[in-house]
Amino acid sequence: MPRCAVTRRSHFNAAHRLHNPSRSDEWNRNLYGVCNNPHYHGHNYELEVTVTGEISAETGEVMDLGKLRDLVEREIVSVMDHRNLNLEVEWFRDLIPTAENIAVCIWRALRKALPPDLALAIRLWETPRNCVDYAGE
Ligand code: NI
Repeated sequence: MPRCAVTRRSHFNAAHRLHNPSRSDEWNRNLYGVCNNPHYHGHNYELEVTVTGEISAETGEVMDLGKLRDLVEREIVSVMDHRNLNLEVEWFRDLIPTAENIAVCIWRALRKALPPDLALAIRLWETPRNCVDYAGE
């Protein structure tokens, strides 16, 4: 059967601070600029989750998009939405919550929850102009 990619788009808001505690305050300010603000700042994240696989002869689908929606809601949105990523989300206890690191954490959480025969790629928009792609490497 032909292979197809299906995409579900989701949204969450979250606050973060970019700061590497092993480097000086000056180093952090120079690198991260306003994103180093000690009082945190927020983003409206847009998440695109793309699942690729064969179209099932039985259902005519790669994956039920309602199922994918529920999975993203449960594994990602309920964990991240309206949270302070640095303080409230375990993934970032020892990891700087850049868009790159957030994308990798999201991909890993979804990978565990999806059937292994489906390929997974995600695109995370941190602003309308900046996004990160991750497909597992
Ligand atoms: Ni930021």
